[in-house]
Amino acid sequence: MEIPENSANRQVVIRLTPVTQERTLILIKPDGVRRGLIGEVIARIENKGYQIAAIKSLLADRALLTQHYAEHEGKPFFEPLVEFMMSGSIVAIVAEGNRVIEGFRKLAGTTDPTTAEPGTIRGDLARDQGTKVVQNIVHGSDSPESAAREIAIFFPERSDLKGL
Ligand code: RTP
Ligand code: MG
Repeated sequence: MEIPENSANRQVVIRLTPVTQERTLILIKPDGVRRGLIGEVIARIENKGYQIAAIKSLLADRALLTQHYAEHEGKPFFEPLVEFMMSGSIVAIVAEGNRVIEGFRKLAGTTDPTTAEPGTIRGDLARDQGTKVVQNIVHGSDSPESAAREIAIFFPERSDLKGL
């Protein structure tokens, strides 16, 4: 059967056309896990409408964290940051969706939890603890290049997650 070309049909075609997807690496840091906030963070990701493509709990070692935080090596907070990130289990998540990198960083709020906007993960759930390094519940990749690099570090076995 031939489908007549009209604006209603065009709309259906546009809605069903696959759209550009994006992936990001999210970490629930040891403070988030210790405080029982895994479910809360996952709920915020899913409630926003992003898909969880992969998830695992792990104890990160120094080698893994040095790779992950390579851009911060040499900064005064690097060593306390690595120590903090090794202080308990973390949860690594790959989330998917259009503009998920920007969208999750918006959900997370700014780095400093004291001034992070209420309504964000850091603004609602974290505060300054007076520690050497700021503890702020989550990490989110900051660019498509970082996301690809970080996903490969935390999910080397998932070759299906490469290439976005
Ligand atoms: P993240 O990478 O964890 O998503 O956080 P971010 O982009 O907001 O912050 P970034 O500058 O990449 O720093 C990475 C993590 O290091 C700790 N940090 N502490 N001056 C400090 O005490 C300081 N600066 C950074 C935080 O845990 C931050 O999330
Ligand atoms: Mg960062």
